Amino acid sequence: MGEHINNPVPVVAIVVAAGSGSRLGAEVPKALVPVAGVPLLTRAVAQLAAGGVDEVVVVAPVEGREAFVDALAGAPVPVTWADGGAERQHSVAHGMGVLPDLPAADADAQVVLVHDAARAFLPADMVARVIDAVRAGADAVVPVVPVTDSVRELVEDGSTVVDRARLRAVQTPQGFRRGVLEEAHRVLAESDTIVTDDAAAAEYIGCTVTLVEGSRDAFKVTEPLDRVLAEALVAWGVS
Ligand code: C5P
Repeated sequence: MGEHINNPVPVVAIVVAAGSGSRLGAEVPKALVPVAGVPLLTRAVAQLAAGGVDEVVVVAPVEGREAFVDALAGAPVPVTWADGGAERQHSVAHGMGVLPDLPAADADAQVVLVHDAARAFLPADMVARVIDAVRAGADAVVPVVPVTDSVRELVEDGSTVVDRARLRAVQTPQGFRRGVLEEAHRVLAESDTIVTDDAAAAEYIGCTVTLVEGSRDAFKVTEPLDRVLAEALVAWGVS
């Protein structure tokens, strides 16, 4: 037991950064877009480490990899690299393919987070909440925030109001027991099924998804306006 406490299984985060990010209209891949001179990917990895992540797997395009490696030259945790796939789900699967070998029981129980590099301003305490919930026994953990806009659903003959009090917007990092995530992606690959995120992948194999409190700061830098917000956050000392 003492040995286990002294030598715990490391928490690993798979950071997906292989999207084109064309909606941002940036001159570099989205994950490398600088905010106050520091790339989104660099910021995201620093925040994951601050929240308790011990090592990261970064999934990045093969072409132009050097710039990604440069962005993490001073990373606070060890970095392993994997190649991007056609869809986000494939990129996550590639990341799992390079997870370190561990004794079977440790591998099954290892806490694995999956995070979008574009959510660069995630608070460290949010990362810790996700890790803690997996450690407490959850199979799949999703940080969420309430929806602030009123929402209408398009239906055949118009639209209908949706009670936003019942809605939550989903963020990353999502957290899993490694055994769950590996099984979910294996089953999805076998049945050639694409799902929207990793929590949906876990649900696909019958797991229950546990929600924890997310943070507005963990917004995904997607459109030009988000870049303005990101610069303002740094100027105000949020990150
Ligand atoms: O396009 P979207 O914003 O939903 O992408 C979410 C995350 O998934 C981004 O961090 C993006 O880099 C990553 N991604 C990826 N491989 C893909 C598509 C998206 O790593 N094929």
